[in-house]
Amino acid sequence: MDKKIAVLGDIHANLDALDVVLADAKEQGATDWICVGDVVGYNACPNECCAKIRELGAVTVCGNHDHYCAFDESLEDFHPLAAAVVAWTRRQLSTENREWLRSLPYQKVVRGLTVVHATLDQPEHWGYVFESVEAEPSFTYQRTQLCFHGHTHVPAVFEQHGFGAVGRLPAEDFQLVLGRKYFVNTGSVGQPRDSDSRASYILYEPGSRTIRFRRLDYDVSAAQQRVLAAGLPEHLARRLAAGR
Ligand SMILES: [Fe+2]
Repeated sequence: MDKKIAVLGDIHANLDALDVVLADAKEQGATDWICVGDVVGYNACPNECCAKIRELGAVTVCGNHDHYCAFDESLEDFHPLAAAVVAWTRRQLSTENREWLRSLPYQKVVRGLTVVHATLDQPEHWGYVFESVEAEPSFTYQRTQLCFHGHTHVPAVFEQHGFGAVGRLPAEDFQLVLGRKYFVNTGSVGQPRDSDSRASYILYEPGSRTIRFRRLDYDVSAAQQRVLAAGLPEHLARRLAAGR
């Protein structure tokens, strides 16, 4: 059977979105699992989401929220809203899940693919890649043809041609071209920010070198109710419906 890798990330403790994504990936025949990080933060089910990703045995890298929630660093410089959510998540996390989050690497090369949360040049500095120019430094450090990342919550494809020029392709299904490198953002499972509230992830088939972007409706109001019931900021519930 040909391998199909489900690549997902920025789950952000949104169990309702994660369940729909996992069911779809299984129905689509996913055989392997990769997580680009930010399993926790923002939404109400951090332990449940950690448990699901761990159960799958997904190759997982550390996101900025995973890091801040798992380690007891000062939150002084944080926006008050962000600090409130990190503090809440720290209180919720089981010892086991905290230890698991602490053990996650910043980047990983697996089955000929690279996986990172933010950028490859300085993975621990959590830079954002929205434009081609911001993708260039990562290509310098990318030793495989394909690298998956997340962090912006916006699905995206950056392509480097043989002579080094970097361009941005539409975030649509495509086949890798030999001699070119790709830095591909999976979009976000649990808090999309491209004005589309649907959960986003990727199915990658190494045999045919094809990438498919999947967008799925899920029960946004159920996720919103959980956020409000947990006493988390109302803004976090509202933004789920807006996809911002
Ligand atoms: Fe994130």
